[in-house]
Amino acid sequence: MSQHQLLGLSGALRGGSTNASLLREAARFFGPCDFIEGDLNLPLYDGDAEAESGIPDAVQKLADQIAAADAVVISTPEYNKGPSGVLKNALDWVSRTKGSPWSGKPVAVMSAAAGRAGGERAQMILRGFMVPFRPRILQGPEMHLADSSNAFDDNGHITSELYISTLTELMDNLRREINR
Ligand SMILES: Cc1cc2nc3c(=O)[nH]c(=O)nc-3n(C[C@H](O)[C@H](O)[C@H](O)COP(=O)(O)O)c2cc1C
Repeated sequence: MSQHQLLGLSGALRGGSTNASLLREAARFFGPCDFIEGDLNLPLYDGDAEAESGIPDAVQKLADQIAAADAVVISTPEYNKGPSGVLKNALDWVSRTKGSPWSGKPVAVMSAAAGRAGGERAQMILRGFMVPFRPRILQGPEMHLADSSNAFDDNGHITSELYISTLTELMDNLRREINR
């Protein structure tokens, strides 16, 4: 039997992103799967560019990856109490593609941030952003990774038992949601 396809989307682009690290940990706790990371380094949405040139290849590729995935895990940083513009821009672009790739898709959202609340407000707003696309977003447990630059060891593994148990439960729920 082929393995589940799990797509990870990080709202932060930088190489050392703790949101990207959190996605990799989510894939590890999910268990055997084909894990790929989508690239949100897209042009800014511009209606004139869309009218002239249509959907950029990188956007269509992302939409196709979402459509093909059995489940998607999104992790957003918190920038000024909201999700990153990178992530919102990607959601806006994908909403312009055909085929409603998010519809009915099992999705787990998470956040990793420097602050004590672990990007809780950003994650809550991200959940609102997703409503028009009608994915099957897990309600919990909520994974807010606080003080994210100190949350991983040298192997990129989460060190806190609390986070490990939260992420394990979230990924168990995601696997169950796929099979539901
Ligand atoms: C523009 C900007 C705004 C930020 N605002 C917040 C914030 O509101 N709350 C917070 O906890 N951290 C905030 N931070 C710190 C980020 O949480 C931190 O940079 C985090 O590591 C980003 O995720 P990354 O490691 O995936 O890049 C902000 C960072 C930037 C660059």
